[in-house]
Amino acid sequence: MSDTMRATSDALAPAYLDDDAVCPRNPLVRALKPALASLRTILPQRIYAPLYAVLFSAYKAVLRQLYLKNVVARWLGRDPAGYSRAKRVYSVMPYSLVGASGLEATFDAASDLIARGVPGSFVECGVARGGCAALMATVAAEDSPPRKLWLFDSFEGLPDPTPEDYKEGRKSTGSHIRPLVRGSCLGTRHEVERLLFSRFKFTRRFISLVQGWFQDTLPAHRKRIGQIALLRIDGDWYESTICCLDSLYDNVSAGGAIVIDDYGVCYGCKKAVHEFFAKRGIHPHLIPDGRGGIRFLKDSRPECAYASQISWR
Ligand SMILES: C[S@@+](CC[C@H](N)C(=O)[O-])C[C@H]1O[C@@H](n2cnc3c(N)ncnc32)[C@H](O)[C@@H]1O
Repeated sequence: MSDTMRATSDALAPAYLDDDAVCPRNPLVRALKPALASLRTILPQRIYAPLYAVLFSAYKAVLRQLYLKNVVARWLGRDPAGYSRAKRVYSVMPYSLVGASGLEATFDAASDLIARGVPGSFVECGVARGGCAALMATVAAEDSPPRKLWLFDSFEGLPDPTPEDYKEGRKSTGSHIRPLVRGSCLGTRHEVERLLFSRFKFTRRFISLVQGWFQDTLPAHRKRIGQIALLRIDGDWYESTICCLDSLYDNVSAGGAIVIDDYGVCYGCKKAVHEFFAKRGIHPHLIPDGRGGIRFLKDSRPECAYASQISWR
């Protein structure tokens, strides 16, 4: 890493670590959060839970309709690459908890790895209902031969948070719109299989779904996975994140990409990332996705245009 890149990374890391809000949310989310918190205290859980589900789906549907303008703009602007990217992001949005800019960042990382010929599979740890996995699969399927996609999840939702997930003296685990508990973010294996193999019709041969807790499945599959080009970590908690990094970072090829979806949203996730960097003595250049996620390249060198040309938004 060049001195300039290291200096940039060092200068930015402390700002991120001290940042209380972790990641600034949009004004609508900032307004909704206290409103939902008040409703939760007033309403019985049997009324609040379905109400939250309806409001959340409506919120996601509005965001998706707003995103449609990107698809249309790319089409009208005769930008085939931009149109293809926007159309794919739009098509997976109903099945993903990841926001549009996070999906775009994953798409860009995957496409860039293929363009640079970085060897290895695509891996997602934390799949939920499979939207982002389907997006990765659309890129993986375009390589020749297609890239293997490994998908890891409990398919029982999140485990309990641990004390590492709470910032000192606070009840909150981060800036999510509602408190995350055991079972949150649930997607079933059946839903993901239906999405990948029935709706999108991907070839089963190139996709492996592994059900279970990362702590059990990742060490057991490390060897079989082999080289990784794209490691996407989306498990929210400290233990889930550190386990993915400890188990799979060494499999990532030089120049491969690591995406950490919850870096700016969950205290424990960010803690795990920085503890891992300290343990390995690495200072990667972090590229934000604009909504709290980051990505970085392994062993990125100054000559890697991708790492040095992308600036903070
Ligand atoms: C935020 S969701 C993932 C969102 C997904 N990438 C998408 O596109 O919507 C987090 C997922 O991580 C899984 N998860 C978190 N920690 C885990 C662990 N230790 N072992 C297995 N699965 C875990 C949960 O089951 C959940 O499906």
